[in-house]
Amino acid sequence: GLDEKRLKKFYIGSIDQGTTSTRFIIFDGTGTPVAQHQIEFTQKYPKSGWHEHVPSELIQTVRECMEKATEAFTKDGHDVKDIKAIGITNQRETTLVWDSETGEPLYNAIAWPDTRTKGLVRELKEQKGADQLQDICGLPLSTYPSSVKLFWLLRNVDAVKKAYDEERLAFGTPDTWLLWHLNGGKKKNVFVTDATNASRTMFMNLHTLEYDDTTLSFFGLDKSKIKLPKIVPSSDTEAYGAIDEGLLKGIKITGCLGDQSAALVGQQGFSPGSAKNTYGTGCFLLYNVGDKPVISKHGLLATVAYHFGKQGKPIYALEGSIAVAGSGVKFLVNNLGFTESSSKISDLAGTVKDNGGCVFVTAFSGLFAPYWIDDAKGTIFGITQHTERGHIARATLEATCYQTKAILDAMELDSGAPLAELAVDGGMSNSDLCMQTQANIIGIPVDRPAMRETTALGAAIAAGFAVGVWKEFDELREINQKDRMIFKPNVTKEEGAKMFKKWSRAVEMCRGWLD
Ligand code: G3P
Repeated sequence: GLDEKRLKKFYIGSIDQGTTSTRFIIFDGTGTPVAQHQIEFTQKYPKSGWHEHVPSELIQTVRECMEKATEAFTKDGHDVKDIKAIGITNQRETTLVWDSETGEPLYNAIAWPDTRTKGLVRELKEQKGADQLQDICGLPLSTYPSSVKLFWLLRNVDAVKKAYDEERLAFGTPDTWLLWHLNGGKKKNVFVTDATNASRTMFMNLHTLEYDDTTLSFFGLDKSKIKLPKIVPSSDTEAYGAIDEGLLKGIKITGCLGDQSAALVGQQGFSPGSAKNTYGTGCFLLYNVGDKPVISKHGLLATVAYHFGKQGKPIYALEGSIAVAGSGVKFLVNNLGFTESSSKISDLAGTVKDNGGCVFVTAFSGLFAPYWIDDAKGTIFGITQHTERGHIARATLEATCYQTKAILDAMELDSGAPLAELAVDGGMSNSDLCMQTQANIIGIPVDRPAMRETTALGAAIAAGFAVGVWKEFDELREINQKDRMIFKPNVTKEEGAKMFKKWSRAVEMCRGWLD
């Protein structure tokens, strides 16, 4: 069991830099959050399909969240010196480029759902060697990974090309960008990434966890010209440095994981066969496959789940990535004015008894796993005079549930074993209606923890492991187990299958939209 008395005395801070918001949460050793702060930041959509973040805002919001949460922590009578370590977790694939001499960003961050590279991807797919990439790095060629975003920047932004030619172009995902700055920049020059984040770039060989020359040269990159962050384990006492200023100055950063890996760790998905689905801005299902990567034949990604250094070998996952989940709900609120806030969309969906024949393929970034249809566009099918906002709200929530079902079917084909139960977390999992629908569509129970900040918890676990707050995965077993809610399917298999059939038809009809 948990040694509560001992663990209540230690605290770990967790930076969670997501797609739409940044948060900092301080957990005690039992995994209970004791202080937190969250800030939403600017989303830029300069053209249809483009999606950017302002690099300095990512740092500012992290710093501000850390200060505010720490103030609340000390106001509550806690002592900063009991914070043993800090973990970091982040939106993945989002691509940043900066001048390695000055740290100045050379462009906005190109966010992971951005599809400006659609044409480029088509071109690259024709290039020699394209069909070998997935075996090396685990990812299919699409608009999603960092590699194509960097390729676009080198081709289209003079300042980026010039920095590359002059050998001062630094590339990184948000973890690398934040770590460099949180350590005080050039002075310490902490320029690293962990294996889970690196596995989203396409540049890393999934088998060796090192940069792969074949892949780099496929994207026309000369390793001697570009500065790529060093790949290190996700839990480490030295590699990530320490906070350079503010209330947490001097505290070591000892854990780093891409946010979806962090959620798997936070859900204690440590044994092969365990899986979790996180309904954030997008929705990502990760299935632990053990210490050997499984390259998907059915539209999924192979990725590093986590690599806890001293704790052993890297562990891999099969992943089903859905580009739109919470962002679909936000679209109903911000663009169509359906409700005042995202949390009200589930209530609106509850005003109707079913979707009234509406199916919404929320393909705002094309359609990701397992379909990978780059030219799909968001499309609502089945509208009649009977259609109300409630139906469309319902169809929006259902879209993620259907795509999850398609992913689980692919996963069963890749892994040979059906999943018995699906652990869930993230914003949209707050909706009982959505989670009941999810259970009905996949025909297995959906298991939701009471504390749903599992992403931040996962980064805290990686950090805490490094400094010995916990020593065995076994010690974590009881964390976040109380008051879980299980949603059991309450429709027949036939009914679930009928709903899914309509969705599959809709997916076929949303491809090939002319730009
Ligand atoms: O791959 C993108 C993913 O890391 C973003 O996660 O939670 O911000 O939707 P989230």
